[in-house]
Amino acid sequence: MTEVAETKGKILFTEEQILQRAKELGEEISRDYAGEDLVLLGTLKGAVLWMSDLMKNISIDTKIDFVSASSYGSGTMSTGIVKITKDVDMDLFNKHVLIIEDIIDTGTTLKYLRDYLAERNPKSIKICTLLDKPSRRKAEVYGDYIGFEVEDLFIIGYGLDYDQKYRNLPYVSYLEG
Ligand code: IMP
Ligand code: MG
Repeated sequence: MTEVAETKGKILFTEEQILQRAKELGEEISRDYAGEDLVLLGTLKGAVLWMSDLMKNISIDTKIDFVSASSYGSGTMSTGIVKITKDVDMDLFNKHVLIIEDIIDTGTTLKYLRDYLAERNPKSIKICTLLDKPSRRKAEVYGDYIGFEVEDLFIIGYGLDYDQKYRNLPYVSYLEG
């Protein structure tokens, strides 16, 4: 396991727990998509660590790509206006797309992204998220594969940031308000 000098925030999930979950979900995804062409579409920047662990556990042929979508304005208040800041490079026509997310919070960003991707006529679109915060959901969007459910806390680590910091922490923790 990765050693760090000092723990930031209160730990919710250790690296060991996350790797175990990546193994379980990777195996499930490999079974579900057996014999199919799969594109793993990671959302920048938060999903990078989760995606790298997950894809190592997927045994079928996959291609990867990245997309970046952000709600207008920073901070915790989502305006509902979403902008694609880095588009998909790959042709998604007739492909099975699995969006890899860090966390589904209000669902605003992901709903926009899913509708945006649907215009490219993929064969299917599903969502695999490391974390799900269902208590805050506003948009009709749900994870098909969920690592862990979390309460309404401000989460950092394992890709998730606070003001662009803490993405490198090898665990998921929360900051106390
Ligand atoms: P949503 O549109 O409200 O579902 O959230 C969009 C994005 O906000 C997520 O993909 C995360 O990048 C970020 N986010 C939501 N909740 C948290 C959190 O607790 N910690 C850090 N980032 C978060
Ligand atoms: Mg995200």
